[in-house]
Amino acid sequence: MKIGIDQMAFATTGKYIDLRELARVRGDEPDKYTIGIGQDRQAVVPPTQDIVTLGAAAADQLMTPTVRQRILTIIVATESGIDNSKASAIYIKHLLGLGDYVRTVELKEACYSATAGLQFARGLVAVNPQELVLVIAADIARYGLATPGEVTQGAGAVAMLVSQNPHVLAFEPTAVSLTKDVMDFWRPLYASEAMVDGKYSTNVYIDFFKQTLTRYQQLTGRQLADFAAVLFHLPFTKMGKKALAAVLGERTDATAQRLRTALAASQVYSRQVGNLYTGSLYLALMSYLQNGTAQPGDRLALFSYGSGAEGELYTGILQPDFKNSLSPVAETLANRQQVTISAYEDDFNQQLGMKSADISFDLTKDPAKFVLAGQQDHQRCYQKR
Ligand code: HMG
Repeated sequence: MKIGIDQMAFATTGKYIDLRELARVRGDEPDKYTIGIGQDRQAVVPPTQDIVTLGAAAADQLMTPTVRQRILTIIVATESGIDNSKASAIYIKHLLGLGDYVRTVELKEACYSATAGLQFARGLVAVNPQELVLVIAADIARYGLATPGEVTQGAGAVAMLVSQNPHVLAFEPTAVSLTKDVMDFWRPLYASEAMVDGKYSTNVYIDFFKQTLTRYQQLTGRQLADFAAVLFHLPFTKMGKKALAAVLGERTDATAQRLRTALAASQVYSRQVGNLYTGSLYLALMSYLQNGTAQPGDRLALFSYGSGAEGELYTGILQPDFKNSLSPVAETLANRQQVTISAYEDDFNQQLGMKSADISFDLTKDPAKFVLAGQQDHQRCYQKR
């Protein structure tokens, strides 16, 4: 039985900043941001948005009456949790109006956990082929104003349905996972911004990619020539370029050219929103499928990386109807509004403003369908419009 990703949808906030403008305000060369890091725009997060509203906005695009009936499990992968105890999946289930006979859980391992969610979903569908599993990767990447990581912030969610006979990508059996206790990036319980050893983290990422790829090749006998594309977790688009260069070197043969062209197609959307943490690899997949030359039957390799650190390399076969099974990402991105750097800084400082038992946010500034209205008696209040 084929099992894999059946449908995919993306959501982000309604606002962004232009990174050339950020570079000028921070006193940096714009080319450092757009070429050196490889980012053009970055999602701006108002206090009325969080992983629940973003996750609901992504998943809402997948809801049909049949889908609603068949979802038995909701897995939310995130490292931007909004509660130390209650799973964000429960809030999302409520906002989507799904029935009560459903399993809900939240998973964490930095940017990696959406891949774990897909693997767990695969197991659930293997046991019960009628089941649909909703896997949502939702995050807000925060490093702090005027820090080296600022240019690599971002926010958004990718929602995926995992099913039998999928329409997008059928998973192949071999998946290589690698875990080592590494301090390249982490966020202590008391911190709202990530701590990171930036240069070291890029080296660990590349090392994990090379190790998982080598083991995959040993286990399957396949080579890079067997992949139509290698898709990467993209904390910033240059990271994918560095990782691919680490295995291609100066090669100029047809395989090397194909993989470089595919990488460029996979980077288009990430350049516009920034790091989605758990969702970045899956936004790269959507970007490749909508901007590249993908064909049904192609074998795609996916490299998932989460600091701390865990990597996984796995492959899937592209299905005939993949083009009609993806939300219109370019349209979502085109509908956003540009804001000034000082407006972004205000939002940045107000976000995570749940510091008192009762608080209410000005909802007139956020036209999104799902919003965080505030908090009452320490309980988060969400609204669907
Ligand atoms: P930095 O130190 O400010 O940047 O921070 P830099 O000085 O290294 O410059 C960056 C690049 O721009 C360099 O290119 C420069 O040469 C180039 P490279 O050597 O890397 O190829 N450059 C220019 N290019 C053109 N014109 C110019 C110019 N000036 C300089 N004028 C850093 C960069 C990525 C370290 C920082 O932004 C950071 O710490 N980011 C966060 C950490 C991160 O994203 N790490 C990625 C790997 S870890 C990961 O992916 C996991 C993660 O997603 C978290 C999770 O798992 O949850 C982060």
